[in-house]
Amino acid sequence: MLMTILTILVAPNPLLRKKAEPVALVDASIKKLLKNMEETMYAEDGIGLAAPQIGVSKRILIVNVPANVGVDGDLIEGIKPDPDLFFMINPEIVSTSDDFATCQEGCLSVPKQYASVTRHASVVVRYLNEEGKTLEREFKNLQAACVQHEMDHLDGKLFVDYLSTLKRDMLIRKANRLYQKL
Ligand code: NI
Repeated sequence: MLMTILTILVAPNPLLRKKAEPVALVDASIKKLLKNMEETMYAEDGIGLAAPQIGVSKRILIVNVPANVGVDGDLIEGIKPDPDLFFMINPEIVSTSDDFATCQEGCLSVPKQYASVTRHASVVVRYLNEEGKTLEREFKNLQAACVQHEMDHLDGKLFVDYLSTLKRDMLIRKANRLYQKL
């Protein structure tokens, strides 16, 4: 099988800062893009990927996290791991929990840098799936953190933006130095 591995943009690439456009129609080109994004995410060992990260300014993302993984990375008893793969087009937050959870986050666009980010512990998201069908679903635990992280990419926001300017600039600089050496 022929795989398509797309190039992932690394901060401070300005394309990562653009607000992405909604998808008007889920057609064959969008399905192809989703498949390429999926293959790229697996190749890079990511747990999520948003279209702006591959230079496509569209409101599309993938999340690949089992439902039974907590924000600390540990497995939670009593929750089924499936489903663990979500294709989301034009996702919108419908509601958020009042409680928050902190997670050690990383990003393929800020390679090999990690920092704690606090987000809503659960979110309800409305989105189109890969068939163009409207779905609404509640995400919790690590899935919730990942969905919020990937949705931020659609608005040109990176996880390092939750840190101090000093720390943010340092992580981007370090990631970029690493990237230049590859
Ligand atoms: Ni990211």
